[in-house]
Amino acid sequence: MIRLALVCAAAWLACAPAALAAEDALLARGAYLARIGGCVACHTAPGGAALAGGLAIATPFGTITTPNITPDRATGIGAWSEAEFRHALHDGIRPDGSPLYPAFPYPSFTGLRDGDVAAIHAWLMTQPAVHRLDTPPALRFPYSVRPLLWVWRALFFHPGRIPVDPAHDAAWNRGAYLVQAVAHCGECHSPRNALGGIIAGRALAGAASGPDGLAVPDITPDPVHGIGGWSADDLVTLLRTGQTPEQDTVSGAMAEAVDGELKYLTPDDAHAIAVWLLAQKPIR
Ligand code: HEC
Ligand code: HEC
Repeated sequence: MIRLALVCAAAWLACAPAALAAEDALLARGAYLARIGGCVACHTAPGGAALAGGLAIATPFGTITTPNITPDRATGIGAWSEAEFRHALHDGIRPDGSPLYPAFPYPSFTGLRDGDVAAIHAWLMTQPAVHRLDTPPALRFPYSVRPLLWVWRALFFHPGRIPVDPAHDAAWNRGAYLVQAVAHCGECHSPRNALGGIIAGRALAGAASGPDGLAVPDITPDPVHGIGGWSADDLVTLLRTGQTPEQDTVSGAMAEAVDGELKYLTPDDAHAIAVWLLAQKPIR
């Protein structure tokens, strides 16, 4: 809105249609990314107000409850600047300088492009402000000591945007971006060590115990353990409906990911994800 006001002030009479259309496009992009990025799903409790947080996430280290990201200035993020919001997504740091737990998938969101972060922020700021105090994390010692996250970060956090690779086409690059940053597939599909760090070189190769304690399959194109036998269309169908090529329906965390996030993927974006995944090196 501030952006629109500035454009209008600058252009005065010429303002109206073009600026409004640009603002609408920005908000629509933000709403879409907030859906497929899981911001809405993860920051909304069952039966609770949208984006007001309160969803309890069980981790091997205890329970962490999502915070309020509505524009409420007292209990949400209404008082944060766009730069502070970007710092949280790209670096996992709050405006007061404290580090965030990686139950918030910022190790993936660090790959988000600035324009997309701006779009998400602009959209969030148009949503209803809800007054709801955050529930503090209930983690076991020593995980309860937030400053220890600096150690975790030094070991396992690799900040940086996802680069565009000119050797590949637009669909491949869009898929790389969606899988690794926006839709953060690796947060569940990559194996982790005892400290919850993703094991280097084994991204997307599956995990013995995922977020709900169940095994998460290998989604590299390994013909035996992975998705090597799947077509791009099979993957598109799975992402948008949860149906596997064997006419099974995915369960658990993947069913939630499909229902809360992935079913909103446009056909083009779902196809781009399939193109990129099937072009990766198989890992057994
Ligand atoms: C898998 C669940 C999950 C997803 C998906 C997720 N978040 Fe979060 N988010 C969390 C958790 C958990 C925290 C709290 C971390 C902590 O307390 O250290 C958090 C914290 C935050 C914070 C810091 C808020 C504060 O008051 O400190 C912001 C901002 C945020 N998320 C925005 C987003 C946005 C924007 C998206 C989508 C691009 C998103 N989140 C997606 C789980 C999630
Ligand atoms: C919240 C955790 C989570 C996220 C995020 C997630 N997945 Fe999954 N995924 C799972 C789990 C768990 C299963 C196993 C479901 C089952 O056994 O029914 C699964 C199953 C799958 C399967 C079926 C594989 C097979 O061999 O049956 C594919 C393909 C898949 N996911 C792709 C993706 C892609 C692509 C993304 C990102 C766009 C993604 N997943 C994001 C947890 C997740």
